[in-house]
This record gives sequence, structure tokens and C-alpha cells, in this order.
Amino acid sequence: MNKALRSAVIAGNWKMNKTPSEAKTLIEELKPLVANAGCGVVICVPFVDLQVALEATAGTNIKVGAQNCHFEKSGAFTGEISADMLKEMGVEYVVLGHSERRQYFGETDVTVNKRTLAALNAGLKAIVCVGEKLEDREQGITEELVALQTKIALQGVSKQALKNVIIAYEPVWAIGTGKTATAEQANEVCAAIRATVAKVYDQETADGLTIQYGGSMNAGNAAELVAQPDVDGGLIGGASLKAADFAVIVDAASK
Ligand code: PGA
Repeated sequence: MNKALRSAVIAGNWKMNKTPSEAKTLIEELKPLVANAGCGVVICVPFVDLQVALEATAGTNIKVGAQNCHFEKSGAFTGEISADMLKEMGVEYVVLGHSERRQYFGETDVTVNKRTLAALNAGLKAIVCVGEKLEDREQGITEELVALQTKIALQGVSKQALKNVIIAYEPVWAIGTGKTATAEQANEVCAAIRATVAKVYDQETADGLTIQYGGSMNAGNAAELVAQPDVDGGLIGGASLKAADFAVIVDAASK
């Protein structure tokens, strides 16, 4: 992290876990543990938990996010949720382009871009996920691939709007597998993303961008990961479901 240039953010990605009553319990447990955080704290919860999460976090330092939104404003898209709907509820963040959405729900770089534009237009902050698969890494194309994903996701996003974007670098092979990228690997790719953003926008804009690492980040390895200069926090799956573990990660990013 380089806190002189940008803010560190720890975001929990609960995925499809916790009913509304379970969500309330977890948030109540979490609140005192992260009350003095020296970094941004976000929890991205299932749609049906948003209301409970907004109520339980009101007046605290915990921000609430969703895990996806549709790119159209409204219409015949059964089962979908628009960015305006989230915004009106009071939701602040939305995760977009998570590799599970890409893998299981047909998400592409182009639809990630459309969703990013829709989220930003609605006044949400977007956590845009990019990352390579194991075979991409083995072929040695990680940095080119992630640079391309980043460029496409940000097409049409103005320099001003980019202030409301966080990029989450999540190597697919590290998600939920217990295999974490080494701190050096994480930093290398986060730095490559920053260099890409510097080319498309400018250095100052790139320096101000929060770039998280995600993929089996936990209470044991977070400190080393967030100590890297280009790793500005994390997107946390499994470990965000345990208040004590999530709080240790928040502490690590608060230093
Ligand atoms: P994980 O998930 O921490 O469980 O690996 C991270 C993510 O998918 O955002």
C-alpha cells in the first residue's frame, strides 16, 4: 500500500452465503472489531441481505456493497437488479466481473464494461475484478491478459469517474483454493494494472487508483500481501465470513 497516494480498502465478498438473520449476526460481531479501522471497510452481501446490512451498519464505518448489477436501467430482464435500484436503497459499492460470474454466468469483458458504466452512471462505486486462469499463467500471458481485461472494463470511463473505481486483481487459480499468489506475484500484476491505467489515463490517475488483491487472502497472509507497494487492500471471500479473521485483515491494512 502507498497510503500517501491512495486509500487502502478491505472488501468482504460474501458470495452466496448468509441469510438476512445470519447477516445481521455477523455484522453485529464485526462492528466493534473494525470500528477503529485505518482503511476502508466494505461488505458485499447477497441482494436479499442488503437491507439488513444497511440498517445494521448505519452510522458505522462499514460500507455496503452488492455483488453484481445489470447494465440496463430497467426492463424485461427477469431476475436482474439495476444499478439505480441499488443506489436508491443506499448501497455504495458493487462488485463487477467476478471470475465466478465470468465462469458460471456468461460474463464477458464487454458485459463487465457495460455494467461498470451503468454502475458509475448511477453513482455507485465499482469494484471491477480481473485475473488470469492457471493456464494463462502457465503460458506466461498473465500481464497482457489482465491489462486487456482492465482496458476493456474501463472503456468509456472518464478520468473523473475512475475515482469511483477499485480494481481487484484476483488470479482465478487462487480463489477459494487456499493457494495464494505470493506477495511478489500479487504486487507484480497489481503494478502491471497500474502501468496500464497510466498509459490509458495518466500517471497521477494511476497512482490514485486503489488496486486490491483477492484470492485466499486470510488472517495469516494479509499483512505480507498488503505490505506490497502496489497492493492497496483486498477482496476477501472465505475469510470475510468470520468476523475475527476479517478484522485481522482490516488491521493489517490499517497499518
Ligand atoms: P477467497 O475469494 O478469498 O475465498 O479466495 C476471493 C474472491 O473470490 O473474491
